[in-house]
Amino acid sequence: MQRIGGGTLRGRVLSALPRGVAGLRPTGSRVRGAIFDRLQTDVIDARVLDLFAGSGALSFEALSRGASSATMLDTSPKVVAHLRKQAQTFCVDRACEVINIDALRYLRNDRPPEQPAFDLVFVDPPFATPEVFDPVVARLAAGGWLSPDALVVCEFERVRGKRLTIAWPEGIELELSRAYGQAHVEIARSPASPAASPNRSSTEATTVSDVPISTRAQRIKPSATLAVSGRAKQLRAEGKQVLNFAAGEPDFSPPKAVCDAMVERSTSGPVGYAPVPGTPQLRAAVAAELSEVHGRTFEPTDILVSCGAKHSLANLFLATCEAGDEVVIAAPYWVSYPDMIGLAEATPVVVTTSAETGLRMTPELLEPVLSSRTKMIVINSPCNPTGVGYTAEHLRALGEVIANKAPQAWIVVDDIYRKLVYDGYTHASAFVALDGLTDRVIVVDGVSKTYAMTGFRIGFLAGPKPLIAAASRIQSQTTSGAATMSQQAALVALTDPSVAADTAAMHEAFTRRRTIMLEGLAAAPGVSVIRPDGAFYAFANVAAHCGEGTAYPDDVALATWLLEERLVASVPGTPFGAPGHLRLSYATDDATIREGLSRIAEALSSLPTA
Ligand SMILES: Cc1ncc(COP(=O)(O)O)c(C=O)c1O
Repeated sequence: MQRIGGGTLRGRVLSALPRGVAGLRPTGSRVRGAIFDRLQTDVIDARVLDLFAGSGALSFEALSRGASSATMLDTSPKVVAHLRKQAQTFCVDRACEVINIDALRYLRNDRPPEQPAFDLVFVDPPFATPEVFDPVVARLAAGGWLSPDALVVCEFERVRGKRLTIAWPEGIELELSRAYGQAHVEIARSPASPAASPNRSSTEATTVSDVPISTRAQRIKPSATLAVSGRAKQLRAEGKQVLNFAAGEPDFSPPKAVCDAMVERSTSGPVGYAPVPGTPQLRAAVAAELSEVHGRTFEPTDILVSCGAKHSLANLFLATCEAGDEVVIAAPYWVSYPDMIGLAEATPVVVTTSAETGLRMTPELLEPVLSSRTKMIVINSPCNPTGVGYTAEHLRALGEVIANKAPQAWIVVDDIYRKLVYDGYTHASAFVALDGLTDRVIVVDGVSKTYAMTGFRIGFLAGPKPLIAAASRIQSQTTSGAATMSQQAALVALTDPSVAADTAAMHEAFTRRRTIMLEGLAAAPGVSVIRPDGAFYAFANVAAHCGEGTAYPDDVALATWLLEERLVASVPGTPFGAPGHLRLSYATDDATIREGLSRIAEALSSLPTA
């Protein structure tokens, strides 16, 4: 049987599939050519779902013809790893999602709300039987997976000259049914009118070609952490006992005084627009808190209050970066940094750390990437996903090379986990450590993690007044000020003395869970972990269980297997720029951590290691 090996994309040849992958249907480029000739502009900006991806030829060709994204499914871990590599080779990895899953399994639930519907679906199973096509097209329609006017392309081999009859669900209209030698192609279209699909929102009624999606938006990858949580929720909705180590937020309620303040402000007001840079009271409270932490005076006008620290960072990059600027980040990095930096037209420059450097950026790693193009260096301490913190000494050493090699650069410290620290580690202020560079330090901070206030959406930016003014102008024309009630709640979090008891209880629980997590991981075969100084994550090195010579090609396949088969949700290291790892959050109860770790240990011990 011939393996799919044909086709080129922007001059690069699609390579053959890895050895040992059986059961692939031969596809002639003539058939593919005919399909794309027929699809023409229907491919432009289409969100593609490739249910039996194989070589990915259909998806890659669709992307090369203007599709905006491709979700490729395949049951073979080897094929999945190959597809991910191919996507990187073709520089379309940001538009590709490759999932190691069976097509029907993927479709068996209704489309989750965070997943946009698909505009173009390829169904070309290696062994074409009615048992494959009929349930697949039925689920595509019934599960709300198709956007209005979507096209479903089915391709199969005729057996002894006879073709299969596909049972197209009611409302989906067959537009083409044609033989190409032994191959047969059917193309059908879902209804254009939202009335025919009652569960859709009215905005989806617009045809794909009417919706202009900028290249800027197309470059942005959906959050990997949210994708895992979405799948875990889906499994839970099916009644499965999923143990969730994927959470990126505390599992506690906010302090009582904070909730009371929110209710009080909502019911008694005022609840109108807040001043764009934040209420004077909250800016003053943040300035007072940061003055104490950093041993220097911040004035309220040095502070911009935004809708979460993520918004603070986005405002910061938009206010400062130009095309051609470079922003240095250390891998493992928080997933959002590269996309945010790219959104501001700058280039993320990744410094890859290792266990040898304690997963920290070191002067030796930093120095070679610094240049006159370096606009900023981002230091996240304690870090998401590793929990690793920088001491004053670490910061000072970095400061020295920055001062020598890139004196024009700014140092951004993301201190969002600053108060969640353990085991004798104390957060080091960049202002204190980087004496001499203090007028080039910018602080990002917020209430989300420390006070379990993620949904309140309040973050802070602290820096020189002209920067705060510029970021505030951007905020004024995008979101306006953060929610009035949330600002009041954040003010209470920072100033009400009763809050300390609640945060202390949360801190105590995290301290205990961290110990349980580290002990459990130490007992898991082939797993190592750098002891986290803070946050609520352990970043486990599982390289012994994925990659060459193991059962799973990479951490994404391993995490998928743990979720699908062992019902343990974790976040693979790849989206954090650190393949071969799993991020395990201990923002969950002690019993879940114990049970989850024993499932992981048992699962990993069943695998061959490299
Ligand atoms: C390192 C880091 N910075 C910033 C943020 C954003 O926090 P917020 O929820 O306040 O937007 C997060 C949230 O996960 C984070 O992990």
